[in-house]
Amino acid sequence: MDADRTFEDFLSDPYAAFAVDLARRAGERLMALFAGAAADKEIRLKGPANLVTRADREVEAFLLQAVTARFPDHGYLGEEGARRPGGEFRWVADPLDGTTNFAHRVPVFTVSLALQRRDEIVLGVVCDPVLRELFVAGRGRGAWVLQDGAVPRRLEVSVTARLEDALLATGFSGTKVRPEHLRPLGRFLQVVHGVRNTGSAALHLAYVAAGRLDAFWEAGLNLWDVAAGLLLVEEAGGRVSDIHGGPLRSWDVLASNGHLHEAVVAVLNAP
Ligand code: IPD
Ligand code: CA
Ligand code: CA
Repeated sequence: MDADRTFEDFLSDPYAAFAVDLARRAGERLMALFAGAAADKEIRLKGPANLVTRADREVEAFLLQAVTARFPDHGYLGEEGARRPGGEFRWVADPLDGTTNFAHRVPVFTVSLALQRRDEIVLGVVCDPVLRELFVAGRGRGAWVLQDGAVPRRLEVSVTARLEDALLATGFSGTKVRPEHLRPLGRFLQVVHGVRNTGSAALHLAYVAAGRLDAFWEAGLNLWDVAAGLLLVEEAGGRVSDIHGGPLRSWDVLASNGHLHEAVVAVLNAP
């Protein structure tokens, strides 16, 4: 299939074109705030080890305003408290995924934006404004990565079939972390090439979709962390489940290239 042509078709959908443009502009705003002197001065604590910066709030307000102006009948759910009831459609956004990095001036963070139709996520965009990469997916339509000036490339999960050849990622949700979340980490580290924690769950999911990581798991996430990224993984040919290998009824998430799924579930759930 001609990836270029298919991507053009995908972008002819007004929701997709809007989401791609909005996530990109939100990413530019994050970069402007990151470069500015204010970025590291306005950290607040939402709870223990749970930071929020001026950038989280500003970009959330920007996203909500843009969605409201364009689609007044759509709902909105954002991490920083923005809520708007809607009918059939709802936008789900994490304006800054990687707040702790941002606050400490570590340049690894993303914008995550998804469109939900009734109970199903139908569109997902993860923007990495630092590396200027945009990961996009439409349900049933495929997934791509857009890099500055390059032709959009189809996303495909890796073919890694043995834990011994795998690069994994995980993350920890501050005070929600329990000993059973830490135990598997030690086990994996004995076997795999490495276990990364970049500080952005959305980026981990985008990287599983891109075949850069073979699997990612994390307990205690929220819908806005994973809405876009899980669709990316599914559309790139990967598999998603809860950390026990069952259907996703909580946001204790495992996403993999599919080949490694059972092996990762086994380690995560070993007594
Ligand atoms: C966090 C990041 C991090 C994950 C945390 C999330 P935030 O989101 O995704 O990677 O480990 O569980 O809360 O707070 O930066 O939007
Ligand atoms: Ca987040
Ligand atoms: Ca956030």
